[in-house]
Amino acid sequence: MAIQKPSRRNFIKQLAGTAAAIAASPLASLADKQNVEERILQYERKFTANDQINIAVIGLGIMGNNDLQTSLKVPGVNLVGACDLYSGRLERAKEVYGKDLFTTNDYRKILDRKDVDAVIIATCDQWHSRISKDALAKGKHVYCEKPMVHYISEGQGVINAQKASKKTMQIGSQRVSSILYAKANELYKSGEIGKLNMVNAVYDRQSANGAWEYTMPLDASPQTVDWDRYIEGMQKIPYDPKKFFWWRNYKEFGTGVAGDLFVHLISGTHVITGSKGPDKIYASGQLAHWKDGRNVPDVMTAIMSYPETNEHPAFQLTLQVNFVSGTGGGESVQFIGDEGVMHVTGNGLSIHHSIMPKAPGIGGWDALGTYPEAMHKKLLEEYNQKYSAEDQKRPVKPDIVYKTPAGYNEDLEHHLNFYNGIRTGKPVVEDAVFGFRAAAPCLACNESYFKKKIIFWDPENMKLKESNA
Ligand SMILES: NC(=O)c1ccc[n+]([C@@H]2O[C@H](COP(=O)([O-])OP(=O)(O)OC[C@H]3O[C@@H](n4cnc5c(N)ncnc54)[C@H](O)[C@@H]3O)[C@@H](O)[C@H]2O)c1
Repeated sequence: MAIQKPSRRNFIKQLAGTAAAIAASPLASLADKQNVEERILQYERKFTANDQINIAVIGLGIMGNNDLQTSLKVPGVNLVGACDLYSGRLERAKEVYGKDLFTTNDYRKILDRKDVDAVIIATCDQWHSRISKDALAKGKHVYCEKPMVHYISEGQGVINAQKASKKTMQIGSQRVSSILYAKANELYKSGEIGKLNMVNAVYDRQSANGAWEYTMPLDASPQTVDWDRYIEGMQKIPYDPKKFFWWRNYKEFGTGVAGDLFVHLISGTHVITGSKGPDKIYASGQLAHWKDGRNVPDVMTAIMSYPETNEHPAFQLTLQVNFVSGTGGGESVQFIGDEGVMHVTGNGLSIHHSIMPKAPGIGGWDALGTYPEAMHKKLLEEYNQKYSAEDQKRPVKPDIVYKTPAGYNEDLEHHLNFYNGIRTGKPVVEDAVFGFRAAAPCLACNESYFKKKIIFWDPENMKLKESNA
């Protein structure tokens, strides 16, 4: 049965904000217009649910539930099992998905089931690589939440496990599938901002939930939380509900603001620029406000140097996360080139052009007026002879604004891409290599912050280096 669903099939074909279509050559037609033009990205998809895919979720917290709900929107996807270490979340799964749902606190029991084709791994970060490798070895397709790994040293092992298994693996940075980022990539490649030299990415928050202090369950205790399994393979740590329910705040279980949020900003940057990653990384931070026992900063900034490659010129990436931001919160990423800036937000992008005139300029905040009158005049005469009036004007290009359509859901797009990969054997958009290339520089930020040093990285071969010499 053919099912009509939204898609990115023809998204490059644009619809104007008004009904007037500019389908054939959107960029060329833009050049003729002087006013800002707002366009809505087109989104439609047709696909068939030709076979059923049985899934199980490992880690049924906030994102596991979100991923599950998104996956179940894909025709033919069916839930057969759920695994979590807190009993209340398994109870909730039975409330929502039926009392007969198979539930367990041991993910190996999920992997042993013959009826499970694919697993969603949405545990805290320290479990990602272990469960992914075990699942792939058991022949399961894997959707693993970002960051792909907890430590850089785990990355290659996951990549190898995926290759050996020949199974589909998608990492969960949903913006990698977004039509908005595909559009931004198209505009970047067409030269709309000129030669890229800087990316500034900011993620601000200003709330307890935003700073990862989530609501604790009333019955949190060693009876309802399988603490021993949670710390399996680690040094013994006494039960601590904060280290379980607020795990992001502890570097033993999470990856701090860098692994959690920089990774989204870097994934988007890699989609837009086609980059494989930076070669030099430095991070600095502080614990400014959320002094709840956490051992990771709540304000962090990083600078990454991206070397010149075939895909992009050399550029600097600055990343900032602030959990106590008087801006009130928000996310913004700016791609700055020598002819303009592309500003990407949650549901749209805009490009503002600013192009240097041919003539270098004379007068104003300049040494000209400090010279004797006669010399002043002569210099101006020579300048006007050398540069025509046209040369002295800044070329004008209209601004561009794009928006995603109302209801567009990049999460669904990302999950669709995963299930299509399973059904067709085609590569997914965010495989283990992409996932690791996005995660590793973020994990290097933690290394840089805790060890107070610059980290050197080989993005091509995905290896740490001693220096850039
Ligand atoms: N893509 C996104 O936009 C996005 C957003 C939020 C979270 N995430 C990612 O999703 C993951 C989960 O985050 P969350 O906010 O849902 O956390 P959460 O604390 O709400 O849920 C994590 C769950 O994993 C369970 N768990 C931990 N270890 C386990 C194990 N060994 N076996 C089975 N279950 C285990 C815990 O019991 C908990 O219920 C993280 O990696 C996070 O980075 C991604």
